[in-house]
Order: sequence, then structure tokens, then C-alpha cells
Amino acid sequence: MKSSRGRDLKKISLIGAGNIGTILAYNLSRKHLGNILMVDIIEGLAEGKCLDLAQSFPVENINTTVEGSSDISKIEGSSVVIITAGIARKPGMSRDDLIETNLSIMKNIGNAIKKYASSAFVICVTNPLDAMVWSLKQISGLKSNMITGMAGILDSARFRFFLSQKLNISVENIQTLVLGGHGDTMVPLLDYTSVSGIPIKNLIDMKKIEKKDIDQIVSRTRNGGGEIVALMKNSSAFFSPACSAIEMLESYLLDQKKILPCSACLNGEYGVKDLFVGVPVIIGKNGVEEIIELKLSSESQKQFTKSVQSVSDLVKKCKKLLV
Ligand code: APR
Repeated sequence: MKSSRGRDLKKISLIGAGNIGTILAYNLSRKHLGNILMVDIIEGLAEGKCLDLAQSFPVENINTTVEGSSDISKIEGSSVVIITAGIARKPGMSRDDLIETNLSIMKNIGNAIKKYASSAFVICVTNPLDAMVWSLKQISGLKSNMITGMAGILDSARFRFFLSQKLNISVENIQTLVLGGHGDTMVPLLDYTSVSGIPIKNLIDMKKIEKKDIDQIVSRTRNGGGEIVALMKNSSAFFSPACSAIEMLESYLLDQKKILPCSACLNGEYGVKDLFVGVPVIIGKNGVEEIIELKLSSESQKQFTKSVQSVSDLVKKCKKLLV
């Protein structure tokens, strides 16, 4: 199907019509990136949300289609699948506490992808992220370049936001990378953090920011999701995860070849094999087209190794639960 702007519209499937799925559907419809299918296990939920969303299209002259269903076989023919199905954490829970429930959900979804959408580019958002995306790959049999997890863009965005507040400088001027697992052990890379090209270390020398402030920001970034859960109590973050997943989807569908920190399947890069961990990758029309191996400082390398270990421990749990 062609859009009114003459572009061929691809099919984008969103599995999960909860908080993140809803923001995804809304934002995607405004970006004219494709026809949207939203699936949720709760009968009527995706249908109702999509009917409401479709009724907003005449107001803003939007020419895409959106369909809701509880039938996962409808993902057939998808170019992209974004998975947000699963439970979110409550105050006091870590992402890792979600593992058993969300793994059983990933089993159903992974099998459906294998059957109906084996050539799609799959972006997983469900937590615990790196272990869920690893499990999805095992179950779906997707190639390593066609499945990835959303975490690093979100963690980097949190880090950028906090730095921007502290420095009183536009978020647009702040570049950074947060690598490793999407958990308390994530690794904000100070060596790769700069403000309009000025390395953060120079800003310390220039007395624009103190090292202790940066340390506090690193720790607030690591707990960024938990801080929001503690405030909202009954749900976890949804605006920023949805925007971050859309950046990955756009880079794939529009072949933008952006360098983005994503949870990618490592095959020896960074000395890690058969695990999904957050690293910078290039996303283009072939999915994850390249994994960029950065030189890490000895401190960052130590933190990265610790983070990989915690992902590896979770994957071991998944392996046990999957047999
Ligand atoms: N198939 C489809 N949908 C499912 C399935 C399934 N097998 N199992 C659960 N769901 C749906 C739920 O019915 C719910 O509507 O997934 C949706 C999840 O929505 P929310 O509870 O609002 O969770 P959300 O905030 O969107 O987060 C989803 O992303 O960031 C992570 O930690 C977060 O794991 C959580 C996931």
C-alpha cells in the first residue's frame, strides 16, 4: 500500500498494547512510517486502542492504517516487529525479577515470529532486556543482524538529560554512550561523553562541572528507570522507551545507518560470545550492519566485564527455564 505521500508503506507490528505499545502506536502514526498492527493478549485491548487512534487520523489528515487484534498470526508480512509484551516492574523490584513471567511470554512470541514473521527486523523492549532478547533469538531462530534490544539509547538519553540539567546546556549538545547490560551495572562511558565536541574531562578542568556531580549523574542514570517506578508505583517508564525504539526502527526502515547503542548479539566482539549486550551498532536496511568495537579505558572495561557477567548470569537462568 502507498501513503498519500507516494511512499510504499511497510507493516509495523507492535506486540503489547500497554503503556509503551500505546505511545509507539501514537508516535509511529504521526511519523507516517508504515501501517501499524498492534497485538495484545487481552481481548479487545489492542482493538479498542487502535479504533480510538484511527479516529484521530481525520483530525490530523493522517493516511496510515492501524489495526488492533488479539490474534498474533496477524503479524504475518511484517517488516518490523517491536515487542513490549510482558509485565513491568513495581516499586522495589529489579528488572531481573520479571524474568520468569516475561520469559514464558517471549516463548509464545518467539514461536509466532518464527512461524509468521521470520524475515522481520525485531526490536525487543521487554525486560530484563538483554536476557529476553537472547531468549527470543534462540526461540525464533532469527539471524543475529535481525534482532536487537532497545536499552542503550534510553540509558544514554537519561544520562544526557541529567548532564544537560546540571550544565544548563541544551540536550542537543550532549553526546554520550551508555553500554553494557540494561541494569544497575550499565556503563556510562565518560571517555565518550562530550558537550558540543568538548570532552567532559575538559569541562571538569574548566570548572563547569565537578567530578562528584558526574558521579552522582552516573548513579542516577543507572537508577533512572527505578526512580520513575518509585514515583509512579504502578507502571514503569514509557515515553522515553517508546521514542528510543522508534529511533532504531527509523534507522532500519529508512536505511539511515545511525550509530546507536543497542543490545546486540556479540560473536567475539568485546571478547564476548553468544550474549546480547549493549554496544554501539550501525542500523541500516540490513538490520544490525556493524558492531563498533570501542577502545575502553581500564575502568570502563572493568565495569563492562562486570555488566557482561550479570547478563550472562541471567541468560543461564533463561537456559534452565527454557529446557
Ligand atoms: N502477547 C501479547 N501481549 C501480551 C502478552 C502476550 N503473550 N503478554 C502480556 N501482554 C501485554 C499485556 O496484556 C499488556 O497490555 O503486554 C502489555 C504490557 O503493557 P504494560 O503492562 O503497560 O507494560 P509496559 O509499560 O508497556 O512495559 C512493557 O517493556 O520496558 C519494558 O519493563 C517493561 O517488561 C516491560 C515491557
